[in-house]
Amino acid sequence: MSTLATVLAAAQERESHRLDVTAGEESPLVVYFSSVTRNTDRFIQKLPVRSLRLPLKTSEPTPQLTEPFVLAVPSYGRPGGAGSVPPQVVKFLNQPVNRQHLMGVIGAGNTNFGSLFCVAAEKVAVKCQVPLLYKFELMGTDQDVEEVTLGLDKFWQASTQPRD
Ligand SMILES: Cc1cc2nc3c(=O)[nH]c(=O)nc-3n(C[C@H](O)[C@H](O)[C@H](O)COP(=O)(O)O)c2cc1C
Repeated sequence: MSTLATVLAAAQERESHRLDVTAGEESPLVVYFSSVTRNTDRFIQKLPVRSLRLPLKTSEPTPQLTEPFVLAVPSYGRPGGAGSVPPQVVKFLNQPVNRQHLMGVIGAGNTNFGSLFCVAAEKVAVKCQVPLLYKFELMGTDQDVEEVTLGLDKFWQASTQPRD
């Protein structure tokens, strides 16, 4: 069974942990967290990518990725910005294999938070030393969908294709 098929089999056991494989095998893989408000989920569903939503509950097992992926993460800060990376994402990134395959980060947030807009994605990018590829607000606009689709495709090809 391919890596993706292994993840899919595990994902099918849990409703909140689903892998969307409607896009082709060569398309970017986006792993993301989205709470019950599902803003990030709605955005990711508009992209022509393979996607894997992290479990809603930290008590559920976190996936182990053995192939490259981009992480999309909304911010959930307490006043002052502490604890902005959702615990579900912290648990996922605490797995060395996941950090090894992390290629870049996309931030989700709300501009009402001012300088803390998408702070979780900024923190992950610095800590894991990967590029912060894009920031979008709430469920994103049509322009965000277009820009992320094109940008992610270029980034994916440049990062995952073998060089001559
Ligand atoms: C308690 C709480 C704290 C938040 N903190 C931030 C923040 O620090 N920065 C930010 O950009 N957005 C912040 N947001 C906004 C969320 O990131 C935004 O609503 C996002 O779209 C949620 O994604 P989801 O619905 O997929 O979980 C916060 C929202 C809540 C409810």
